[in-house]
Amino acid sequence: MGLTPVAAFGVIVEVAFVIVMIALLHNKNKSFQRRDEGLGRRPKSRMIAVIPAALVVAFGVWYIRSSGYTSVNFAALEKDYSTNVFGQHLVAPVILKAVPDFWNNTNPQKPLVLSFHGWTGGGKNLVSQILVRNLYPAEAERTKCVQLFDVTHHFSSEENIAKDTIKQRIHGTVEKCERAIFIFDEMDKMPPGLIDVIKPYLDTYEKLDGLSFQKCIFIFLSNSGGEKITELALEFWRNKKKREEIKLSDVESHLLKHAFNNKKGGFWHSSLIDRNLIDVFVPFLPLEEEHVRMCVRAELRHRDRAINEELVTKIAGEMSYYPEGERVYSVKGCKTVATKISLFL
Ligand SMILES: Nc1ncnc2c1ncn2[C@@H]1O[C@H](COP(=O)(O)OP(=O)(O)OP(=O)(O)O)[C@@H](O)[C@H]1O
Ligand SMILES: [Mg+2]
Repeated sequence: MGLTPVAAFGVIVEVAFVIVMIALLHNKNKSFQRRDEGLGRRPKSRMIAVIPAALVVAFGVWYIRSSGYTSVNFAALEKDYSTNVFGQHLVAPVILKAVPDFWNNTNPQKPLVLSFHGWTGGGKNLVSQILVRNLYPAEAERTKCVQLFDVTHHFSSEENIAKDTIKQRIHGTVEKCERAIFIFDEMDKMPPGLIDVIKPYLDTYEKLDGLSFQKCIFIFLSNSGGEKITELALEFWRNKKKREEIKLSDVESHLLKHAFNNKKGGFWHSSLIDRNLIDVFVPFLPLEEEHVRMCVRAELRHRDRAINEELVTKIAGEMSYYPEGERVYSVKGCKTVATKISLFL
């Protein structure tokens, strides 16, 4: 059915409302009729109207719950993203436009496949957490609908066992929740045989083993291409161009030229690229000292500490920056900010 859950719920409530109104009018007419007939008694049949209406509403609630998701507050997602993610202007349109568009599409042809790339500590895990907590605000839903695979941790076993584990977890989740989210961290460490296992789920098949995966979101996180992204950002910086002037197309063409087409380099998703299974490449830029300072302030706020600019400068100054001499980008992004703060407080 081509209705969003919210629209479906709206229709159900409207139907319930119409039933109640018709029943009430019907009762009123009967009541007048009886009064005219001199009976003078109010009918007790209002319950007969309320019961079907309640049943219809209950069905609506069941429908929404069983479809595995509720309406999403995209304004809250936007607020969460803009308050907590710094310096990633190329990521915002994906999270705030591509994901909501996909979520509102009741009949997608294929699952949404996002590939997050970038240097360490730039916010890949952070952004996937922001997505998950806003798409599934209730913990019970998150447990049911979200699967996180840490490639080095989960798939270190023998390849055939790992293959079965992936299949079982993907199938088991989609059986309970048609709009599931699968996050594969450290995707660059995924053995090619396991990548082959997930390929069919990313494709346009209407059904696989009786299940549809077209409404799912797959997110791959990796450091692949991170160096090339940094190289490009540094080129802009050296040419005195603003970081915000870097366009997604600049990064994509740079990556295609230097990384993605290098099949011998073992770039993990050349086979996914060949089959157009990845919908969006999401580059995370390396973070500058200004962003590290923002991370420090955010962490202080998070710990209910007053923001002291002297302390912010001290902590940001404690981080390592590269390239040597120019000191433009933080070596570990914002990753060690929290530990550094603990040393100073
Ligand atoms: N762009 C950012 N804006 C705000 N905070 C950030 C950003 N990037 C990283 N952080 C902070 O640093 C922590 C570590 O970042 P995160 O784990 O998301 O990095 P990552 O890109 O996944 O790194 P890795 O490649 O090493 O896994 C986050 O929890 C967050 O507190
Ligand atoms: Mg990470």
